[in-house]
Amino acid sequence: MGRNRKPKTVKDITLHGIADKGMCVGRDAEGNIYFLQGGVPGDKVDAIIKQKKKGVPFGFVKTITEPSIHRVKTFCEHFGVCGGCKWQHLDYKIQIEQKEQQVKDAIRRIAKIEAKTFLPILGNGQLAHYRNKLEYSFSNKRWLTEKEISEDVEITQSKALGFHRPGVFDKIVDINKCHLQDDISNRIRNFVREFTASEDFEYYDIKNNHGFLREMVVRTNLKNEVMLILIFGHKDVSKMKMITEALKNKFPEIVSLFHITNAKSNSSFFDLEPNHIFGDEYLTEKLGNIIYKIGPKSFFQTNTLQAEKLYSIAKDFADIQPNDNVYDLYTGLGSIALFVADKCMNIVGIEEIEEAIELAKINATYNNISNAEFYAGDVKDILTDDFIMKHGKADIIITDPPRVGMHKEVVQMLLQVESPKIVYISCNPSTQARDIGLLSEKYDLEKIQPVDMFPHTHHVESVALLKLKENV
Ligand SMILES: C[S@@+](CC[C@H](N)C(=O)[O-])C[C@H]1O[C@@H](n2cnc3c(N)ncnc32)[C@H](O)[C@@H]1O
Repeated sequence: MGRNRKPKTVKDITLHGIADKGMCVGRDAEGNIYFLQGGVPGDKVDAIIKQKKKGVPFGFVKTITEPSIHRVKTFCEHFGVCGGCKWQHLDYKIQIEQKEQQVKDAIRRIAKIEAKTFLPILGNGQLAHYRNKLEYSFSNKRWLTEKEISEDVEITQSKALGFHRPGVFDKIVDINKCHLQDDISNRIRNFVREFTASEDFEYYDIKNNHGFLREMVVRTNLKNEVMLILIFGHKDVSKMKMITEALKNKFPEIVSLFHITNAKSNSSFFDLEPNHIFGDEYLTEKLGNIIYKIGPKSFFQTNTLQAEKLYSIAKDFADIQPNDNVYDLYTGLGSIALFVADKCMNIVGIEEIEEAIELAKINATYNNISNAEFYAGDVKDILTDDFIMKHGKADIIITDPPRVGMHKEVVQMLLQVESPKIVYISCNPSTQARDIGLLSEKYDLEKIQPVDMFPHTHHVESVALLKLKENV
């Protein structure tokens, strides 16, 4: 646990690399090490040190005394304030080099093995507008800019619709233009702000948990159609109707609208029933030859174009043969299972969210896929000896767990099943390396390829192919 201490300024730190969660790591003239937010490798900086964790000082850059050659001009007016796109000031070439290194380091330091082949990272061709989903929050406490504070002017507008200020749970940065999603998202958000301000609708008080307008989720597809989900703290039928009508008249792009009423203290709406208001119940998206129906609560990879490439790499690594029996663990709405179904004899998908499994079945039928079966439940409970007896031993296991990686009982099960190939897709190099390390008892890491799905962030995805050792 970190020990809070009085902030102090340290001068002349040279930043030389990137560490966990995208922080920069650097040393002062005496060789002392620091972890800092807001820098770029190569910068010389003065920093404010706020706390020590395990003896290492953490803080943020106060002044850049000599900028790095890797610094680039940022393009977003909210950069440095909203918490998204933290690496926008870092040359994209260096961003992906750092991500590739993260995956290499994790395999070496955590899995403690070497990949037979380490393929270069697949960069992202699209550095803006790459997300198909953004979640905005309403707040009656707007994060004030430094300019507003320093000018000491009276604040007349305290409402905000935008993103959380990092580290400040109840304040929202009012967003005027976000470059992560196509411009329709900006137009809808700004219209909702103007309309609700003109009608004086109440924005949510995050600290005290009350208020009317709570969150807004904008999902888009490559055809620029929009599914909009409005989340309210409580019901007010006439105001809900007013905002619905206003949006319907203004934006023909909105092909699907849902309302959710969330009176709980937490903002998660996965346990709540969305109310379908108008348009389609699903947004559709095409990856490869598959058309996916996506619901308001569905997990779907947020970078559509890069997801298609990620799945293609997984399919290529799997090298599925016509008689193969394949398992797709953590299948979501069947995304990968359906993408590879044309190559195999049978595919079995497992996912804990029941609605996602219902959708996987709908998506299989919609795409005339008859060799895919889907089961709802925790992988560690579903993937039992009986289940494998019933569905047949897997020739290939594809696994795409959440950030925490696979449960150790699932890893044990995979070691017991001894499928000839495992394709492991991950959004967290550390947990992927941990699991690969455990699997290395019986598997070789044949190849691994990082894929950048999220430019300007430290996040990186990677696909690994594990092959059963010959002598097990
Ligand atoms: C990274 S997503 C991958 C989904 C899918 N493969 C895709 O590409 O869209 C991980 C999925 O695992 C599901 N999940 C998380 N924990 C699980 C568990 N213990 N058992 C089964 N599914 C789980 C999540 O709901 C989510 O759909």
